[in-house]
Amino acid sequence: MPAAVRTRPIHRALVDKHLGGAPHLRVVPQPHPQRPAPFLKWVGGKGKLLPALRPLMPTGKFRYAEPFLGGGAVFFDLSADERLEHALLCDVGRDLVGACRVVRDALPELLAQLQAHETQYLSENEENRALYFYAVRNRHPGDFAMDDVERAARMLFLNRTCFNGLWRENRSGRFNAPHGRYANPGILQSDKLSAASAALQGVDIRQADFRALPELVQDQRIGFVYLDPPYHPLSATSSFNAYSGGQFSGKAQGELADVCRRLDRQGVRFLLSNSDCGYVRDLYRGFEIGTIRAARSINCKGESRGDIDEVVVRNYAN
Ligand SMILES: C[S@@+](CC[C@H](N)C(=O)[O-])C[C@H]1O[C@@H](n2cnc3c(N)ncnc32)[C@H](O)[C@@H]1O
Repeated sequence: MPAAVRTRPIHRALVDKHLGGAPHLRVVPQPHPQRPAPFLKWVGGKGKLLPALRPLMPTGKFRYAEPFLGGGAVFFDLSADERLEHALLCDVGRDLVGACRVVRDALPELLAQLQAHETQYLSENEENRALYFYAVRNRHPGDFAMDDVERAARMLFLNRTCFNGLWRENRSGRFNAPHGRYANPGILQSDKLSAASAALQGVDIRQADFRALPELVQDQRIGFVYLDPPYHPLSATSSFNAYSGGQFSGKAQGELADVCRRLDRQGVRFLLSNSDCGYVRDLYRGFEIGTIRAARSINCKGESRGDIDEVVVRNYAN
């Protein structure tokens, strides 16, 4: 009998037993002495580039927007340094945005569900861990009634236990990264989540396409925008940019450059990251274009070889 058929009843039993019982658990959030930082592993996350990006940011405090949120490394860094008078965070990823809102608004309930996932997952042998992972993965919110907290816990669990922390969706918006084999993947992360939750209080978090940015920026009197779109590929196979069920095309890069020109006309400062290639440089001709050194992003085989330059585009000088 094929393995997938033979194992299906075990999947159901594992998930039903442990998620069905989650609500009675209570995990009390701890105080958060930790500096806030991304609670999701995210391809293209800017955590390692913060030392290079910080000197390029405007000085002082500002009203801030980040339209390609991902793991939010730059937002959390600015928040930790108390630079934000207001923040608007957007992304097209439905699960990502939902998870950020749940971290902001329902932390104890989320921690209880993550605790249930962690207890179950860590108590299993390697084979059953994989079964549990695929059971949670197959329990897609499009097919099963799921409240926001359960959906967020599913996302965080999959993000911590999948291969490479890769949140990758197919064209129908279904997460499809395989299981990773980590001895202790850190599913609960209660300190990190508590610090993130504190940083997200009062923050406007929206599921929105970047094309909606100029109106939002105007309505919310934003002064500075950091834009970190999926990078334009350096070659046909070199770049990962399939976060949310679709590629970010060359046409989308052009529309993004138009949005930046509009921000410029609105008197809003912007800083944008992208890959260093002729196409991107042409799109932003007329603005200040610099480079920073970055680890090569994930390619189609998940290999990482050496460092490359990335461009940083600005419409202001410090
Ligand atoms: C390079 S990642 C951002 C990484 C982030 N700066 C960090 O430090 O983790 C790009 C993000 O853009 C989002 N995205 C893709 N297409 C988008 C669109 N049309 N509008 C808004 N966000 C989009 C993806 O879901 C992904 O989270």
